[in-house]
Amino acid sequence: MIKAIRGTRDLLPPDTALWDFVENTVRQVFAVYNFHEIRTPIFEATELFARGVGEETDIVSKEMFTWEDRGRAESEKNQSLTLRPENTAGVVRAYIEHNLQQRGLNKLYYIGPQFRRERPQKGRYRQFYQIGAEVIGPASSGSESPVRDAELLEMLAALLDRLGIQGWTLQLNSIGCAADRVRYNEALRQALEPVKNKMCADCQRRAVSNPLRVFDCKVPEDQPIIETLPRIGQFLDEPCRKHFGQVREILSSAGVPFTLNDRLVRGLDYYTRTAFEFTHGALGAQNAILGGGRYDGLSESLGGPPAPGIGFAIGEDRLVMSLSRSAEAAFRKPDVYIAPLGPGMNKEAMRLARELRRHNIVVELGDESFRLKKSLETASRLGAKYALISGENEVSTGVFALKELAKGEQKSVARDQLPGTIERGL
Ligand code: HAM
Repeated sequence: MIKAIRGTRDLLPPDTALWDFVENTVRQVFAVYNFHEIRTPIFEATELFARGVGEETDIVSKEMFTWEDRGRAESEKNQSLTLRPENTAGVVRAYIEHNLQQRGLNKLYYIGPQFRRERPQKGRYRQFYQIGAEVIGPASSGSESPVRDAELLEMLAALLDRLGIQGWTLQLNSIGCAADRVRYNEALRQALEPVKNKMCADCQRRAVSNPLRVFDCKVPEDQPIIETLPRIGQFLDEPCRKHFGQVREILSSAGVPFTLNDRLVRGLDYYTRTAFEFTHGALGAQNAILGGGRYDGLSESLGGPPAPGIGFAIGEDRLVMSLSRSAEAAFRKPDVYIAPLGPGMNKEAMRLARELRRHNIVVELGDESFRLKKSLETASRLGAKYALISGENEVSTGVFALKELAKGEQKSVARDQLPGTIERGL
């Protein structure tokens, strides 16, 4: 038997109803904040992620699904392609490619699959889904303003509330600008120099090439050493300190609760200044429902114009896991099951179904070969509210038997009264 690849999975009804509920709510909430959808390709040039996300990150160094493509054209031969492990680099590439700076401030969102070769476990998949948003534009459009950061975080709080997700924590930090990072990396390098030999192989490498990435280490034995390292907060320059202070002030005045966490540096290289994660207790070890932050230098590092930006991505798989709403409750069941009785009645049943569906009534059709008992049993199993019996007699008189399955109650209803009766109840 051929099975789905490890770390990927099928999403089936009724569970998909929960995913629809999440995505519909997301679209409604984001629209109110004036975000619009962008769809970028699922695969891109490998170089985009190497330069955007960073060579030393776990994502790029270990987790990407990359292949050498045997393109037909000379320019495509042996091109290195990668299934996107995240969507921010793709959005910023599109921003540069389509000159979106001309539009001023861009507020874009996306919903779609991402791919990382991580060790599969609860809440962690190799094909997973993200719902993300990016705010990006020239500085003159206000893209750098702390109000953008606060607005994005407030939108996330509003979204989680709308979805009925309680008990989340917003962890907030500022990781400074590029100049702060140089000083901080230097301090980390110095602090790591005498102890790095006691650390794992990855950390020994990181300590030299990109010391900030030491904080991504999951090896338990390394944690006491990491605990003693200097904190980024001490290295922020005055403008970064002020920016972060304003973000916190606006957030507080909007009533969005947050926790400061000066250990939060995020696992992607493009971040500057504000960095954040929303965590949820019900998720266990993989407790981050979402993460994001500013990336004021990303466009330039991809060869584009200066374009400060900020964004986030929600792990949709994890978001769905933290919903209290059940899939059954979100699943729309048939309003009516039409039971055609006797030869030639499929045609009539189909016409009836067409009339009812025009009224947005959910209809399931039986088959003329079914006995009435089988039709009623099928209707009950599907959770239909009504069974509509359509035999020769009913079609010729134009009066149909409508049975409310849970109550066992039955009523004769004229054809033109059917939609209204089904909507209102017997
Ligand atoms: P990230 O923290 O790598 O950030 O991923 C965001 C979220 O995606 C995580 O918090 C988690 O919920 C979910 N996620 C990540 N990996 C997996 C996995 N293997 N299985 C299930 N869920 C997963 C980013 O991707 C950035 N692009 C976010 C961003 C947008 N920053 C600025 N703009």
